Amino acid sequence: MKLRNLLISLSWMCLLLNTCLSQEVNDDKPNIVLIMVDDLGIGDLGCYGNDTIRTPHVDSLAREGVRLTQHISAASLCTPSRAAFLTGRYPIRSGMVSKMDSRVITSLGVSSGLFLNETTFAALVKNQGYTTALIGKWHQGLNCLSRSDHCHHPYNYGFDYYYGMPFTLFEPCWPDPSRDAELAIGSKIWLCVQLVAITVLTLTIGKLSRWISVPWSLILSMILFIFLLGYFWFSSYTSPLYWECLLMREHEITEQPMKAERAGSIMVKEAVSFLERNREGPFLLFYSFLHVHAPLPTTTEFIGTSKHGLYGDNVEEMDSMVGKILGAIDDLGLKNRTLVYFTADHGGHLEVRVGHAQHGGWNGIYKGGKGMGGWEGGIRVPGIVRWPGKVPAGEVIEEPTSLMDVFPTLAAVTGGTLPQDRVIDGRNLMPLLQGEIQHSEHEFLFHYCGVHLHAVRWHPRNSEAVWKVHYVTPVFQPPGAQACYMTTYCRCSGELVTYHNPPLLFDLSRDPSESTPLTRDTEPQYDLVIRTVANALKKHKDSIIPVQPQISGSHQDSIWLKPCCGVFPFCLCDKEGISSASGSS
Ligand SMILES: *[C@@H]1O[C@H](CO)[C@@H](O)[C@H](O)[C@H]1NC(C)=O
Ligand SMILES: *[C@@H]1O[C@H](CO)[C@@H](O)[C@H](O)[C@H]1NC(C)=O
Ligand SMILES: *[C@@H]1O[C@H](CO)[C@@H](O)[C@H](O)[C@H]1NC(C)=O
Repeated sequence: MKLRNLLISLSWMCLLLNTCLSQEVNDDKPNIVLIMVDDLGIGDLGCYGNDTIRTPHVDSLAREGVRLTQHISAASLCTPSRAAFLTGRYPIRSGMVSKMDSRVITSLGVSSGLFLNETTFAALVKNQGYTTALIGKWHQGLNCLSRSDHCHHPYNYGFDYYYGMPFTLFEPCWPDPSRDAELAIGSKIWLCVQLVAITVLTLTIGKLSRWISVPWSLILSMILFIFLLGYFWFSSYTSPLYWECLLMREHEITEQPMKAERAGSIMVKEAVSFLERNREGPFLLFYSFLHVHAPLPTTTEFIGTSKHGLYGDNVEEMDSMVGKILGAIDDLGLKNRTLVYFTADHGGHLEVRVGHAQHGGWNGIYKGGKGMGGWEGGIRVPGIVRWPGKVPAGEVIEEPTSLMDVFPTLAAVTGGTLPQDRVIDGRNLMPLLQGEIQHSEHEFLFHYCGVHLHAVRWHPRNSEAVWKVHYVTPVFQPPGAQACYMTTYCRCSGELVTYHNPPLLFDLSRDPSESTPLTRDTEPQYDLVIRTVANALKKHKDSIIPVQPQISGSHQDSIWLKPCCGVFPFCLCDKEGISSASGSS
């Protein structure tokens, strides 16, 4: 009897202990919400010193968390920067770089993408029991061999749920006046084609016609068919709008072409519903904005409301969407259990101009912008981390940190282990964020432009200095400009860059705008710095195992790889319907 009682109470204790333990584990494992804005300039946010653009929600995030002022992206263009963010490795290690002028995945019709043997933070935390989602822009490839094999779909990289744009916003996506007309005409034409096909079939099989011979009816139908096809093909249907600007939910295409100004509000709904579904946690949500990339699709609610034209309107709409996501986290009572991170994939795009109004981001006091390998404006981005009770509120950290740090930081906070068979370039941010250490663990950071190394940053372990050595810089044109207005993006090599020998040297701690190069005469440590950095660069280069570049000319744009919603080439659909459209107001 006694033994039995003892056993019963023991098992009760076990049960209690178990629930306690598992609750503790859940408390230990925070939910994770990563917010990345596309092409946002560091100077576009109130909390980074902008006094005319209104970004109250991002600002509140900064007040409640740590704001990083020297947060550096591994590349100044989307595809490589995001590959590095996902994997914690320089994009040159995963092959997400190019020797060519275009350094991103240029269409949904190329077979390249992130190698499947790369480990993303999503796969890492999924291993720790997290439910993971990507909502928004992907831009890491889609298909390999057929238009629906989805070999590079986010599901193959550790994401459990996906809604968004597999490609990226670009000019043809908006405005799209022809979209609705084409959708209407498209469905009628499809009906015609079916009718023609049925007629031909009936005529041929039944030989019913007395007035016209079968061969003639066939020829007539074929002419009609070819005419319709030709009309359809050479109308705006051939525009990239139809082939690149599309949205998917899981594996299904929901809109082709997409209604760009509506996409943002559907994405927010998707995010909120993911948070609701997974409120028990732990979850990871990577919310990858389509904002504030050109052509800046904005709902009428925000058009004309900012002091900075369409660009400002789009930034303010982005901020309101951040507010909706933060609001949902609050409403679900998850604030204290959720680590929220906010960043941009790289600096603002200076060359985006419509007329005389500037329509790209503002990189504050920093020189250069998107697409430039080394200049600070292309790679210094906002970085905010909020985790109430775990990370101090209202703190500012000026030490060098990297977007690649997110991968090892998430490993640390979720109890995951880093892959041991490869180099991870990021560092766990928690010791710095929690004030255990004051000095960044990044002594050197390497700044690439495609496969070409342009600059190196050195933050010596025993000094406040942040040396920046430039070996290559783009030639700005027209002469006197501060960007590459003649080519839309600056080049990485060849005639449109300057090779510096001796290299240009700046100390960012004294000259953050990289305005006055230091020389042997003005800087006593000049030789020491150049020598030390050259040695570090050699060590870094030795650590790189060559892989096949995934973004290069050998990956041809093929119509056969482009996703199609319907029967090729009639690839039109709108499964969000009218009701969602009203949700954007
Ligand atoms: C604020 O942002 C706008 C839009 O990018 C920019 O034009 C303006 O110069 C910025 N203001 C400051 C003080 O940085
Ligand atoms: C959330 O964390 C903050 C800061 O540590 C604390 O003041 C607050 O009481 C916590 N709220 C809840 C509901 O636990
Ligand atoms: C992934 O596969 C590619 C191609 O086979 C190879 O070159 C690369 O080294 C692999 N990467 C890792 C991290 O194993």
